[in-house]
Amino acid sequence: MKPSEKALVPFVSVDHMMQLIHRIGVEEMLRGLAEYIEADFRRWDLFDKTPRVASHSDVGVIELMPTSDGELYGFKYVNGHPKNTREGLQTVTAFGLLASVETGYPVLLSEMTMLTAMRTAATSAMVAKHLAPKGADTMAMIGNGAQSEFQSLAMKAICGLKTVRLYDTDPQATRKAARNLAGSGLEVVTCASAEESMEGAQIITTCTADKQYATILTDNMVGAGVHINAIGGDCPGKTELAPAILHRSDIFVEYPPQTRIEGEIQQLEADHPVTELWQVVNGTAPGRTGDRQITLFDSVGFAIEDFSALRYVRDQLPGTEFYHPLDLLADPDDPRDLFGMLQRSAS
Ligand SMILES: NC(=O)c1ccc[n+]([C@@H]2O[C@H](COP(=O)([O-])OP(=O)(O)OC[C@H]3O[C@@H](n4cnc5c(N)ncnc54)[C@H](O)[C@@H]3O)[C@@H](O)[C@H]2O)c1
Repeated sequence: MKPSEKALVPFVSVDHMMQLIHRIGVEEMLRGLAEYIEADFRRWDLFDKTPRVASHSDVGVIELMPTSDGELYGFKYVNGHPKNTREGLQTVTAFGLLASVETGYPVLLSEMTMLTAMRTAATSAMVAKHLAPKGADTMAMIGNGAQSEFQSLAMKAICGLKTVRLYDTDPQATRKAARNLAGSGLEVVTCASAEESMEGAQIITTCTADKQYATILTDNMVGAGVHINAIGGDCPGKTELAPAILHRSDIFVEYPPQTRIEGEIQQLEADHPVTELWQVVNGTAPGRTGDRQITLFDSVGFAIEDFSALRYVRDQLPGTEFYHPLDLLADPDDPRDLFGMLQRSAS
């Protein structure tokens, strides 16, 4: 039986997402995503917000991330399994959906593994634009796995980064990232230690994966005036920074009820002061206020960023061939005759 128009939902596969990114250009798309995310941070009050629904196991986590702005509803399915790369699998994979609040009908289904890497990087750079010291042009990139090139390119496209200093405990990962970033316009320096990667860096990104309270940065490694973009601590029991660094930093978060469970600040008292980023974006809370201040983006990834990314993708699709019409919704001639539709499909 041929599905009707009403049954069809645009589906963006990984292949189509990659073609879309190439058509737009990686850096141009990172800028576009950052604009959509920033626009949604400005209208933060409008959104339904809830900490993500996480299902933990000894080896990882599977999460659902829902939100709505009253017109569109969105959610992302995402996992985090640090052991996966040893088995030839990704640490993070994802897909997501947008739906019309008016009808409840899905309007877009999309791969979100590529898109999560893009949106996480776009969010980091959008935040660094507000918090990093003026003229910051050098970043230490600690953890050179799947997210690292995206993080580096977003900082170049949105914050004017010129040099990235790479470090990973696995030199193969560093070689891979250096190879992938060659010809990007960034000066790429490979480093033998985290300390070395931080020499001359005004932005420090930690993006490692390990299911433990790790200490990627110790207190004595972090000098005054830097911006820390902490990506990898995003689960209960999974952090990257020594608590002393948190006590010296002004901490900026996406959504406190989620970050207090998942972020670096799970190591602090439940009432430790933090600033919500949406308030910095809309000008109701200060961002960087001094040259010696350490700003810390305690990133965990919030549903609104995925919603913005899906919205962006949806707006780019018309006029392209980068989606499949997916027969996702049953559409009987008489909406109440679902069973009749099943019977007729047998003949
Ligand atoms: N905050 C967010 O929005 C967000 C979004 C996506 C991913 N993440 C998190 O970011 C982290 C990185 O994700 P990925 O997909 O790049 O993972 P990945 O497994 O591909 O890469 C992680 C890298 O970290 C390295 N590493 C581990 N311990 C290290 C250490 N002590 N020092 C230096 N390097 C070390 C590993 O060798 C590996 O190359 C994960 O923890 C993931 O959960 C956060």
